[in-house]
Amino acid sequence: MKILVTGGLGFIGSHTVVALQDKGYEVLILDDLSNSSLKVLEGITKITSKTPAFHKLDLRDKSSLQDFFSKHQDISGVIHFAASKAVGESVENPLLYYENNLAALSYLLQNLVLLPEQNIIFSSSCTVYGEADELPISESAPIKKAMSPYGNTKQIGEEIISDTCAAHDKLKAIALRYFNPIGAHPTAEIGELPIGTPQNLVPFITQTAIGKRQELSVYGKDYPTEDGTCIRDYIHVMDLAEAHVVALERLMSSQSKENFEVFNVGTGIGSSVLEVIEAFEKASGEKLNYKIVDRRPGDVIAAYADTQKANKTLGWHYQRNLEQALKDAWAWEKKQV
Ligand code: WQD
Repeated sequence: MKILVTGGLGFIGSHTVVALQDKGYEVLILDDLSNSSLKVLEGITKITSKTPAFHKLDLRDKSSLQDFFSKHQDISGVIHFAASKAVGESVENPLLYYENNLAALSYLLQNLVLLPEQNIIFSSSCTVYGEADELPISESAPIKKAMSPYGNTKQIGEEIISDTCAAHDKLKAIALRYFNPIGAHPTAEIGELPIGTPQNLVPFITQTAIGKRQELSVYGKDYPTEDGTCIRDYIHVMDLAEAHVVALERLMSSQSKENFEVFNVGTGIGSSVLEVIEAFEKASGEKLNYKIVDRRPGDVIAAYADTQKANKTLGWHYQRNLEQALKDAWAWEKKQV
């Protein structure tokens, strides 16, 4: 079965391509290489002994996209990762985000609804919950006003898909709301490749430990949590990748009654920034240089998933714990020098 993966050379996309190929699917990747590298294809090939088909294509290029779909009518499912993801950049350049993340999504859907098989998995985010009133956060928690254009594109993206499903009987979709994806493939052949200074905690930690950065700034130790630092639900990228495969299989085997569903993907375990640092030191055997600084504007205090829906309905559970994820992230970082 042929699966189209947009943004398939990115961090989560590449690990999902591996998970798909591991299960025997034939993968086609569309990626514009704006935030990824062709080298990732080599990593995927080393791990799975199979090179996915790759097409350099910007989803905003309507005619090339149409041309692609006219040649690939036999696609059984689409996993849509291609998007911009830097919160700060989205505040500075909102129109770029609305174009890359929403115009492109709408073009993709315009083509998808013409195919014989119309199944799509959408990358959404726990950011849609904002500062949740209840923890753990379940899928029925209210959607809060987005704190950034990036976050807004995830909320509107879900709405675009849901509205399109309502208008097209044959279209089936699942939005996966990711918590905090971290780690790398255990072979260290693929991993996260942040451009410039990493904004996310784990790549900043590994780059500090390897000596690329002098020290990690811990943003705030005066939050109302046990140790005063923020709490997140860190999920191994391979667990997240596998969640995409089971979600797609749910659509392709028509197991669901509704044609649009959402699922949280996390471990259900909240870890503070200081706990992550401690776990990293244990996993790597390295001492991490860090200091406490002011809070980072826009950070929520705590977010971790209620995973029951994904556990029961998808039959998916996380398999790799925080320490394993940090070990894999560290092995990947060490390979980059
Ligand atoms: C985690 C914790 C920081 C860096 C991410 C994505 C966002 C959305 C949700 C995708 C926080 C602290 C971080 C550093 C630190 N995902 N931190 N020093 O903020 O949960 O957001 O998930 O849709 O786009 O960015 O993740 O990794 O940035 O931060 O102390 O140098 O680590 O304050 O508590 P976050 P993160």
